[in-house]
Amino acid sequence: MTTAGNRGVVKVLSGVPATDGAGVRMTRVIANEQLDHFDPFLLLDEFRSDDPGDYIAGFPDHPHRGFETVTYMLAGAMKHGDNKGNTGLLGPGSVQWMTAGRGIVHSEMPQQEDGLMWGFQLWVNLPADQKMVEPRYQDIPATDVPETRPGENVSVRVIAGELDGVKGPVSGVATEPFYFDVRCEGSAEVRLPTPENHNVFAYPYAGDIRIGGEGGTTVPRGNIALLRPGTSVSVATGKTANFILVGGKPLNEPVARYGPFVMNTADEIRQAIMDFQAGRF
Ligand code: CO
Repeated sequence: MTTAGNRGVVKVLSGVPATDGAGVRMTRVIANEQLDHFDPFLLLDEFRSDDPGDYIAGFPDHPHRGFETVTYMLAGAMKHGDNKGNTGLLGPGSVQWMTAGRGIVHSEMPQQEDGLMWGFQLWVNLPADQKMVEPRYQDIPATDVPETRPGENVSVRVIAGELDGVKGPVSGVATEPFYFDVRCEGSAEVRLPTPENHNVFAYPYAGDIRIGGEGGTTVPRGNIALLRPGTSVSVATGKTANFILVGGKPLNEPVARYGPFVMNTADEIRQAIMDFQAGRF
């Protein structure tokens, strides 16, 4: 199938208010009633609040198996710790790419009592033959995320993947993802190359964007645009806007999910629950 060219928009969906962890309020963008998953992406949350009551309870100890969790902080600070003794502090602009693999029990707790907490959590699936790998962390401070300027009034923080020869710090991920944080100042236009058959979405987190050039589709803040296959995405803004643009290779494998476990079959989910309850994570 030839689908080369500029990607159009298949669907625009709004995020849904949700509560997770010990009572953190957020917007669930993927993994809601309208959109169960977007292969290989299993979940996307945006958390943004300056009311400590919305986030202070954090995410106490909880398990994961079978996929990767990616935390990207825009504002505020979160402390991470797990049952293997790993700890880390995530500050503004930093990224944690955690390959949960065969199993991890971890917590993510706010390191502030007031002020703005803002960021994203994305879940990325693992292929069947990598679901039980040893857990792995890529903790990336803000200063290690490179920036490039692909157009006038446009800057991009390259978290994963490559843009204009600038490589993101995340490596060795099965679905060969890219993760760009794109910032447009005022009126701007930019065309970003994408691997043709990756599934790609855009999510504006400040301001509105238009995808597809002339006659394109407007995507308001807080909505996700799922894109058709193609070799590039063109985006225009009339006013200042920021969005994340994320893509990955679809796995085309069965998805069996139960809370924090995502496997290929119901039997593997039962095994995950048994292993967790028996303390084998
Ligand atoms: Co977690």
